[in-house]
Amino acid sequence: MTQQVFIRIGVLLFATTFIVSCMHTTHIGQPFMTVPHPGKYQLIYHTPSQEFPLHSMATVDGREFLAIDDVVLPSVQSLYLLTHWKIFDGEAVLDLGTGSGVQAVFAADKASVVVATDINPTAIKMARLNVQRNGADNIIDVRQGDLFAPINKTEKFDVILFNIDYPHDEATQGLWKLHERFFAEVKNYLKRGGRIYYQSGLIDNAARINSMANKNGMSILSMRMDVALEADRQPIVYLIKRNLDVEVKTGVWDR
Ligand SMILES: C[S@@+](CC[C@H](N)C(=O)[O-])C[C@H]1O[C@@H](n2cnc3c(N)ncnc32)[C@H](O)[C@@H]1O
Repeated sequence: MTQQVFIRIGVLLFATTFIVSCMHTTHIGQPFMTVPHPGKYQLIYHTPSQEFPLHSMATVDGREFLAIDDVVLPSVQSLYLLTHWKIFDGEAVLDLGTGSGVQAVFAADKASVVVATDINPTAIKMARLNVQRNGADNIIDVRQGDLFAPINKTEKFDVILFNIDYPHDEATQGLWKLHERFFAEVKNYLKRGGRIYYQSGLIDNAARINSMANKNGMSILSMRMDVALEADRQPIVYLIKRNLDVEVKTGVWDR
């Protein structure tokens, strides 16, 4: 009798453990760090999940983003840009250098169409996976290529988001060429009144960014910046418009 009771308890314990472990064979790993940053969204890094054991994972306000190899998870800079752009219902958005796809996924809450591009084929795979897992594949079109190469000359956007690596030390000065190309081309892809939210940390970069914008018939209308963060670079978001679209030159952050 006692033996039967023990067997039953054993079976019950096994079944409970099995069910609980099945419930934990989830798509999401354990949170190990909530990242402090000055933006409004919560950024948490997780351990790899059982479903994606080789991927790193972050959640941004509970939305999951996977990354692998050289693809970057949403960072403090990503979250700062995310916090400071404003997209209105039905707008067309271009997210250049989408990485994990975080800007595109949040933009799709409001936009009617989002085109997300990246030069890195692995980033494209990750962005597509993250877009699909966040249920935004009906709005977001992910395309591979260098800057505007995957964009048709006739495509125009209300909002262009840019958070691509920027020069921050001697070794990364070569990145200015990429930013110069961005400023030379971006005006061709804006709708009338369109705006650019451009993330580039380091206040020392501001003068050069201003001159690249001016040289191409654009102006910085506003900047959002925060103090330098521990173990990270200070995020700065610029709102930039073509001069022909600027009606009021100061104090305009949205449209
Ligand atoms: C710092 S990550 C930022 C990712 C994302 N925008 C975010 O906010 O989290 C920069 C991304 O830009 C991509 N990238 C770099 N050079 C590029 C280029 N010439 N054209 C398109 N994407 C580029 C990289 O592959 C990388 O995924």
